[in-house]
Amino acid sequence: MKILVTGGTGYIGSHTSVELLNSGYEVVIIDNLSNSDASVSDRIGRITGKTPPLYIGDVLDEALLDQIFSEHKIDAAIHFAALKSVPVSMADPLLYYHNNVTGTLSLCRAMKKHGVKNIVFSSSATVYGISDDRPIGEDAPLSPKNVYGNTKLMMETVFSDLYHSDPEWNVTLLRYFNPIGAHESGLIGEVPEGIPGNLMPYITQVAAGLRPHLNITGTDYDTPDGTGVRDYIHVVDLARGHIKALQNLSGLGIYNLGTGRGYSVREIVNAFEEATGIKIACEEAPRRPGDLACYFADASKANAMLGWRTEKTLHEMCADSWRFAKGYYK
Ligand code: NAD
Ligand code: UFG
Repeated sequence: MKILVTGGTGYIGSHTSVELLNSGYEVVIIDNLSNSDASVSDRIGRITGKTPPLYIGDVLDEALLDQIFSEHKIDAAIHFAALKSVPVSMADPLLYYHNNVTGTLSLCRAMKKHGVKNIVFSSSATVYGISDDRPIGEDAPLSPKNVYGNTKLMMETVFSDLYHSDPEWNVTLLRYFNPIGAHESGLIGEVPEGIPGNLMPYITQVAAGLRPHLNITGTDYDTPDGTGVRDYIHVVDLARGHIKALQNLSGLGIYNLGTGRGYSVREIVNAFEEATGIKIACEEAPRRPGDLACYFADASKANAMLGWRTEKTLHEMCADSWRFAKGYYK
């Protein structure tokens, strides 16, 4: 089977491409390199022995999509290509709605034109109107709190409406919790844009000596150690969830991908220090506006229906994050 991976040189797309190739799928990538590098497809080749063809271009470019679907007999698409910064989405909503939502419409039109009706979509826990009720199941209320989240919910709506208009479509929406870690080879991983907004990329920059300390944003939450609790998932486990989703594509499916347990910021810092032997200087800082104390996934539906389970430990998440970052920042 041949899979079109949009955003396939990005963080999650590259790891998923590796798992696809290792599972015997053929992969074709389209990426505009707005947040990644062309060398990633060669790195995927070094890991798997198979370098996927990379079309450098935009999913908004319907002529290019037309060309790709004409040149390859694509069986299904996995749609990662999107912009993902919450603060940038609030500052420039038109950019986000155009890139993410219009980009998705463009992909859907090309798929429909070429009779390809199988899609796995990268959604996010950000679609939930998350409260401190947890664990969060797929039927929790949907009410994103930022523009990025609005684009994810709109894209989910596009896919589910498409399915309802024509049940020949098979659509799986995967809602990720907090991906961290990297491939154990150290060849692919997460490259943050500018000052990292997320916890693990910030920690690795402190470890690399690029930043003096980690600001722990909120130490007075109602959690065991006062710091925020999230469901961190190793990106390789997450990538494998996409293989299970492809194998089980049937009708409209919606699944959380998380481990089902939460770790606090201090637990992550301690685990990182243990895994790497590097001390992370920390300072207490105010809460980030809009942050919640604690949330994690109810992943039992993906466990039961997809036969998917996370296997990687927190120690591996930290060690693998650092192996990639160390090589990248040296
Ligand atoms: P990423 O930025 O590393 O990868 C996205 C890739 O898409 C990049 O390589 C970028 O160059 C490409 N891209 C963006 N817009 C494009 C366009 N219009 N045309 C072609 N290529 C385009 O991000 P990621 O962390 O790998 O995220 C992948 C997907 O998962 C995104 O849809 C993101 O919203 C979603 N997601 C990510 C997280 C997370 O924490 N990383 C959590 C939940 C959901
Ligand atoms: N944190 C710090 N210091 C930092 C960065 C984060 O202490 O420099 C803390 C946060 O307060 C939070 C935890 O680390 O308690 C995790 O923060 P992240 O920003 O890594 O992750 P979030 O869960 O806040 O947000 C991420 C994505 C969102 C997405 C959400 C749910 O950034 O886009 O997961 O999937 F919506």
